[in-house]
Order: sequence, then C-alpha cells, then structure tokens
Amino acid sequence: MAEVPAHVPADRVYPFDYHNDPLISEDIHDGLLRLRQDAPPIFWTPAHGGHWIVSDTDLMVSVLKTPAIYSSRQLQIPPREDAPRMIPESLDPPEHLLYRRLMMEYFEKSRIAHLQARVNFWTDTLLADLEGKAECDFVEVVASRLPVYVFMEFAGFPLERADDFRSLVDGMFRSSDPAQRQNYAMQIMGELQQLITARMAEPKDDILSKLIEADFQGRKLTFEELMSIGFLLFLAGLDTVTNAMTFGIRHLARDGALRARLRDNPDRIPDAVEELLRRYTFPTLPRQVTQDTELGGVSLKAGDMILCLIALAGLDETLNPDALSVDLDREKRTHFAFGTGGHTCLGRHLAKMELETLYRRWLEVFPDFEIDPSRKAAAPRGGAVMGIPELWLRLPA
Ligand code: HEM
Repeated sequence: MAEVPAHVPADRVYPFDYHNDPLISEDIHDGLLRLRQDAPPIFWTPAHGGHWIVSDTDLMVSVLKTPAIYSSRQLQIPPREDAPRMIPESLDPPEHLLYRRLMMEYFEKSRIAHLQARVNFWTDTLLADLEGKAECDFVEVVASRLPVYVFMEFAGFPLERADDFRSLVDGMFRSSDPAQRQNYAMQIMGELQQLITARMAEPKDDILSKLIEADFQGRKLTFEELMSIGFLLFLAGLDTVTNAMTFGIRHLARDGALRARLRDNPDRIPDAVEELLRRYTFPTLPRQVTQDTELGGVSLKAGDMILCLIALAGLDETLNPDALSVDLDREKRTHFAFGTGGHTCLGRHLAKMELETLYRRWLEVFPDFEIDPSRKAAAPRGGAVMGIPELWLRLPA
C-alpha cells in the first residue's frame, strides 16, 4: 500500500483494490454498488501505488470526455514508464482521431455484415459440440472460444491454427502470473508479425490487409503501427466479448421469464443484448491527469491516475430507474459498457453481432437451462476487464 500524498484529503481515502478486493470477491456488481454507497464519489485508494477512483456518473463523463486533462496514454495502474503505444486506445487528440478515422470505416455495421454467416457457423459448431451433454462450463466450451474464432476471421488469421491460437489467448487472459502473461503476449506478437508479413506479400479480405493497403496521411502505416493496432484489437476484442457472453448467459440461466419472452419474440434479442450489457457492464477505464486540476471537490495533481468504474453508470438509478432489473421495455437506457467520449468502442457492432447470434441460437438449442447447483460458483475476477472465470450450467436432455 502506497503512502497517501499530501494533496489527498484524509476524508477522501478509502481502500479498494480493483484487482482483488473482498468487496468484489462474490459478485462484482453488488460489490461495486456497495462501494459507491460507502465511499465518496471520487476517492483515493492506496492500492496499486495509489490512485483515484470515480464512481459518480457525471464525474466519469467529465473524465472520459476531457482528454486534454485526462489522458489515455497510460492504460494500466500503476502507470509504466515504458508503456507501449496501443493504437488507437492509448492516444490522445489530435493524434488519436487520425488513427481512429482510418480504422472506423472497417468497423461499421455495413463493413462487418459479411461476418454474420461466419459468426453463425462458429456459434452452431460450438453448440453442436454440446449435443448430449448434461452439463458444461460455458466459459470453457463457448465464451472463451467463439470470440477467438470470429476475431481470427476478422483479422485474417489462418483458421487451421484456431486451436493453437485459442490456447495462446486463453493463457494470456487467464494466467495470473505477469511473467507468464508476458510470455503469451510475446508469442501472440510473434503470430501477428508472421501474419502481417504474409498479408504484406499477399493481401486478402481482412482488416489487416485493408490497413496495410490504406492511405494514412499520405503514406502507408509502418510495420510497428500495424503491430500496435493488431495487438490492441486482441486486447480489446476477445476477453471483453467472453465476459459479456458469460454475464449474459448467467442472467438468462436465472431468469426463466426473460428466456421465454426471447424465445417467443426473438426480435427483442437486440434489446436484451443492450440491456444485459447495461446491467452487467464490466470494464474499468483508467486515465492519467495531465495538469493540476480539480474534480468533484478534490485537487488532482499532474501524473495522478484515475479509474472510472463505468459499471456504475448503467446501475445509476437517476439514469435507469430500477436499475437492477433487466427490463427490455425501458423507455430510455443509458450505459457506458462500450465507454463514452472519443474512445467509444470501435468493435461494438461486431460484439453485438456475436452476442445476438449466441443468445438466439442458444435459446433455440437450450430453451431451458440453469446454473449447476451442485458446484460452488467461481470467484469473480477484478481488473481492467472484470469477469467470471467459470460458469457451470445444467443442460436439459
Ligand atoms: C462486449 C464486448 C466489448 C466491450 C464491453 C468493449 C468495451 C470497450 C470500451 C469500454 C472501450 C473504451 C476504452 C477507453 O475509453 O479507454 C473500448 C474501446 C475499443 N474497443 Fe471495445 N469492447 C468490446 C468488444 C470489442 C471488439 C469485438 C473489438 C474489435 C475486434 C473492440 C475494439 C475496440 C477498439 C479498437 C477500441 C479503441 C477505440 C479508441 O481508442 O478509439 N472492442 N471497448
């Protein structure tokens, strides 16, 4: 635990370890709600070298929409001197917008529509593997696999390597040992390097080929820029979808009325996707203060780190009355599951396509299913992408 700096008032200090706090050891969202109730709307925790935490929606909006004061250059807490550039997520304006504009068009709904058939194929393949099974760990058999296969199609990785690739991705996201994670990250970088080299020689119809051929400010992207973008897509587009699927299916396992409604009205599945993302938002977003400033009645110093608990925006009763209920018929729904401001998720249409397809197909194959009562629920995992590492389900014959 770091010493509390002089500019932090004593009544704003509240210990909370976003990676591993007893408060979130049983249920992440219940724990974060308790934190919002017990701690000030912006407070200092001595954990991880000491940093601010913001739980109030308006304060989060100020942070996430003012990049001149709250920079994205450090995407981890504690910050690292040698933090790699993650294009576009760790960039600030005006540089950020140049790259984001370049990438944006490849993520538009119309540009990813062709992936729908492949998402269907992979979803059906994974569900077919469950035929005749009475139980499964949903994370192991579906949620950790589907986003990897879809990502491989999107990025242009050779599909015959799907299984090797999945074990690398699994190792990186699931390992708790930083040295081991780094080792997996290096192997993934090696795969990316090979892929970019191959696509430079022979472009295909995937996002890396398109980025290789694109004009960026009157020139081509460099190899380093392509590696940075490729690796960021990995970090941004895999574990997030895995956890969204797991929170969503966990809810559906517990909510028979919603299952029945979606089975009878599959056209409401897009609303369910949005509502489940709101109810169970799980990323946390860090920013670094660039100049001495004031926020929510406290003085912040240049260099301070801030963590925004964006899960709490979706659970804000003033924005979403009866926020804990999953309600498809909300008149208005506000959440920051995909962030807010200039860095709002580029992959959100792809993510929603995966989630909608999964819920639709899953409910067709398993109209009823439940959480396996004979197994103890696995402890949730905190961090940048909070999640559930295991979800055992009982599947009816
Ligand atoms: C349910 C799944 C997903 C969630 C919850 C999610 C969430 C987020 C959030 C919260 C941000 C903002 C980060 C910040 O402000 O620092 C973000 C950014 C981003 N996401 Fe996603 N994401 C998901 C899926 C994906 C997928 C599938 C891809 C691509 C394959 C992707 C690509 C990106 C990129 C490139 C950015 C950076 C945008 C920028 O900096 O301008 N995401 N995502």
